[in-house]
Amino acid sequence: MSILKIARMGHAVLRSAAQPVGDPKAPEIRRLVEDMIETLNDAEGAGLAAPQVFASLRLVVFRVPADRGDVVPLTVLINPVIEPLAEEMESGYEGCLSLPGLTGVVPRWRKIRYTGLDLEGNEIVCDAEGFHARVVQHECDHLDGVLYPMRMRNLSSFGFVEEVRRGFAEKVGKEESV
Ligand code: NI
Repeated sequence: MSILKIARMGHAVLRSAAQPVGDPKAPEIRRLVEDMIETLNDAEGAGLAAPQVFASLRLVVFRVPADRGDVVPLTVLINPVIEPLAEEMESGYEGCLSLPGLTGVVPRWRKIRYTGLDLEGNEIVCDAEGFHARVVQHECDHLDGVLYPMRMRNLSSFGFVEEVRRGFAEKVGKEESV
């Protein structure tokens, strides 16, 4: 297994539509997934899409840690399809390993159903909401060449994580002093 280089915003691989995976059980797919998991663990991210490691294939890995809602163990999702289950959207801060150090507020469907295949070729069908739904929508957007700033409605929330956090801390401090 190896840690792979992560493509950064601006690279053509992040702007292209990825190709469907022909055989989820192929050894090269398993190898790619193992490397993506190692890369995700090293970067301490919630999810990673194959185009982010220069493989233009419709394949994502993700998980939901305990501090972000109901725990979802590491999931490999191949050729995913997303369907919103309600019209309701929810705004939340997102980051991306392809835009290191940056964050912004992105609206996402609050409830979705996603389908796809696992590494054995078995069908996955899952209803998700909250952060789980958000991370799946974020990762699947990578398969269509979409990065989260392209989904933002107001770029004034876009900035460096350290500065945004500092802004929050100052706001809280002011409110407390009033
Ligand atoms: Ni991303």
